[in-house]
Amino acid sequence: MNIFNKFSILNAQLNKNYTTGLIPTMGALHKGHTSLIEKALKENGQVIVSIFVNPTQFNNFEDLKKYPRTFDKDIKLIKDISTKINVYSPKPKDLYNNKIQASIYKFDGLDSVMEGIYRPNHFQGVATIVERLLWAFLPNNAYFGEKDFQQIQIIKSLVGQKKIPTKIISCPIIREKNGLAYSSRNTFLTKDQRNTCSLIFEQLNLAKKLLRNNSPEQIMKTIEKNFKKISNLDLEYFDIRDEKNLSIVNKKTNKKIRAFIAAKIGKIRLIDNLSLY
Ligand code: PAJ
Repeated sequence: MNIFNKFSILNAQLNKNYTTGLIPTMGALHKGHTSLIEKALKENGQVIVSIFVNPTQFNNFEDLKKYPRTFDKDIKLIKDISTKINVYSPKPKDLYNNKIQASIYKFDGLDSVMEGIYRPNHFQGVATIVERLLWAFLPNNAYFGEKDFQQIQIIKSLVGQKKIPTKIISCPIIREKNGLAYSSRNTFLTKDQRNTCSLIFEQLNLAKKLLRNNSPEQIMKTIEKNFKKISNLDLEYFDIRDEKNLSIVNKKTNKKIRAFIAAKIGKIRLIDNLSLY
């Protein structure tokens, strides 16, 4: 197992005759992350997993400080998948020099809805770090989870705008037995909270079912009403949107549409989504 903290040194070790797959992560790895790693291993000659808690994508210092850091456990988990994986775990300086600051991007509205509203500047930070990682390694393929569907659309736009020669591969959401999408934040949930959170996936599935006889607009209203009845789980948004441009869809359509949800349980914020077509 090779662990690097400088991308220049990792790059020098790569075999130029092999295809490279990159999986950017912030660590605290779980089955969602490992599914991306396993897919990348199948599809590439060599794989890089980056572990870096990116400061510029957090809108407050408290969140950044309390983000779970489980490096030794992460390494063990990766080792159990394959000892051939290259881990890149840098200090901020390797990617940011001495200026820890997000670059400025325009995403044509993709970043001004949903997470863009609740987490101002979050996507500028995500795009900054992903752009730097992609230029650093120029991987053939980079793997991202649909758990963060809005993030994928923004990264696809980034790669298009900057003409980065990497294919962005989106991977399905991996869920716990009760339907809750794996997330690094799930470690903060109590048993009771975890049970309550299964309602998130339940309501997403209900939306899919209701689409047979209802318009998206009616469904959004119904689900919002349902959440008002669930104590402890505070709905931030339940939106049905066009997958491509993330605009709200009110009327029945043949376009690919998806339901997106964000809810808070105590201080823990969870997001999820489900394709409705
Ligand atoms: P992180 O939250 O660590 O997630 C890393 C990748 O794992 C993302 O592409 C995310 O969508 C995916 N992922 C998380 N939970 C998943 C699940 N349950 N099923 C499938 N995939 C899942 O997303 C980030 O880090 C950062 O924003 C990053 C892209 C690394 C930039 O800092």
